[in-house]
Amino acid sequence: MAKKPTSVAEWAASGAVQRCIEPGCAGAFDLNERIYVCPRCGGSIEVECRLPAPRAARLLPKLWAARAASPDPCDLSGVWRFREMLPFGEEPPFVTLFEGNTPLYHAPRSAQYCGLADLRLKHQGMNPTGSFKDTGMSAAVTQAVVLGARTIVCASTGNTAASLAAYAGRARLNAAILLPRGQISAAKLAQSLDYGASVCEIDGNFDDAMRLIRELGEDPSIYVANSINPFRIEGQKTVAFEIMEQCLWQAPDHVVVPGGNMGNSTALGKGFQELLELGLISRLPKLSVIQAEGAAPVASLFASLDRRRRPAETRLPERMAPVEHPRTLATAIKIGAPVSWKKALRSVLRSGGRVIAVSEQEIADAKAMIGRDGIGCEPASATTVAGMKKLVAEGYIKRKESVIGVLTGHMLKDPDYTSRYHQGTLSLDAGANGSPAQAIQGAFRNAPARVAATKAAVLEFLERRL
Ligand code: F0G
Repeated sequence: MAKKPTSVAEWAASGAVQRCIEPGCAGAFDLNERIYVCPRCGGSIEVECRLPAPRAARLLPKLWAARAASPDPCDLSGVWRFREMLPFGEEPPFVTLFEGNTPLYHAPRSAQYCGLADLRLKHQGMNPTGSFKDTGMSAAVTQAVVLGARTIVCASTGNTAASLAAYAGRARLNAAILLPRGQISAAKLAQSLDYGASVCEIDGNFDDAMRLIRELGEDPSIYVANSINPFRIEGQKTVAFEIMEQCLWQAPDHVVVPGGNMGNSTALGKGFQELLELGLISRLPKLSVIQAEGAAPVASLFASLDRRRRPAETRLPERMAPVEHPRTLATAIKIGAPVSWKKALRSVLRSGGRVIAVSEQEIADAKAMIGRDGIGCEPASATTVAGMKKLVAEGYIKRKESVIGVLTGHMLKDPDYTSRYHQGTLSLDAGANGSPAQAIQGAFRNAPARVAATKAAVLEFLERRL
């Protein structure tokens, strides 16, 4: 007879499987199978955790909060302190850089800008490598260790790469990274180099790199760390637990996130859904995803859906039409064929959320506004505030509703963009499909001034400025 699990964590892990998300298939596979799509039907895979029983679950918030004050590294990590919800058992060979436990800031200026009474921003850019990828990478690299993998690969617009490089370095594994040459920020590239990854700059865009990763993943010597890896999503879903903990387990009305490859929205949706099933929250927040106009295949698909039906009945097509030449200065989300679109869209529909697109100008000004709140973020993250402003104007988000935006990357991830905005030199090159170049007019420009090195000149400058 199988040994009876003796702790909640062991119990949860004992029943977990990898499951195909296609209802007609629903194939179940062992956790130790190295798969990224369903071997039977090619559908996406997710980990189905065996969650604690609701009675036991009631004790979890206290336990999780207490762990944050423990000296044990497993307790201090904002991923592993939620281990009852993860498919790893009690003592995994966890790889941590103390990810998670990120701040939830009030953002009064950004709130006013959006037309909201209040707005809070969950800053995932405060993770060890400066982006939200670290929570997922902690779990994916731990699973690589469990499986005995030696080489982990990813395609990336820069942040996944930096995160994988750091966590693989920490676990003494080899990281190989495929980047679209000339299309990622210098700061992100520098991180991957410093953390010791093997970096391949490919001639092509992110979607080309991702296609290559799928092929490489067929090789048994290689483990894939992109968000088609369901263990990445498991780590990333913990941000949903943190948000609810910070909201004292009262679900906000809206949670708004940027959308690129759609792993983040998938993870948040999964995290909220699990808390609902456990009875730790009483309703789902509406989950909305914001894309950049030039890279918005999911927003286009969403706009075409017949949403008069009840969300659960909304039929999704088999395929999504990709954007052939994605184009945005928010390079992190310059993606035309997001791999996790279906999982994410299901979560959005289930919650009653929306997927919309915002312009380059809207992203740039929203980013400057987040900066004015003393918070700051990278361009892709600012789609959230730009999107909220639009959703408030459309009357979908109401002024007094509680709203949380997720900021995905730190401002220092792309300092070039920020200084070009403030100096008035930010522009989008002409597109491969014939769309013209576009100069961004910074509504909140803050250019430095050249001032003589005298007290009088500085005082005179301040007089003029203030
Ligand atoms: N924000 C930032 C800062 C990102 O780096 C990404 C994705 C996203 C938002 C979108 O999140 O893909 O889960 O929908 N960056 C990936 C990368 C693609 O390679 O770093 P998503």
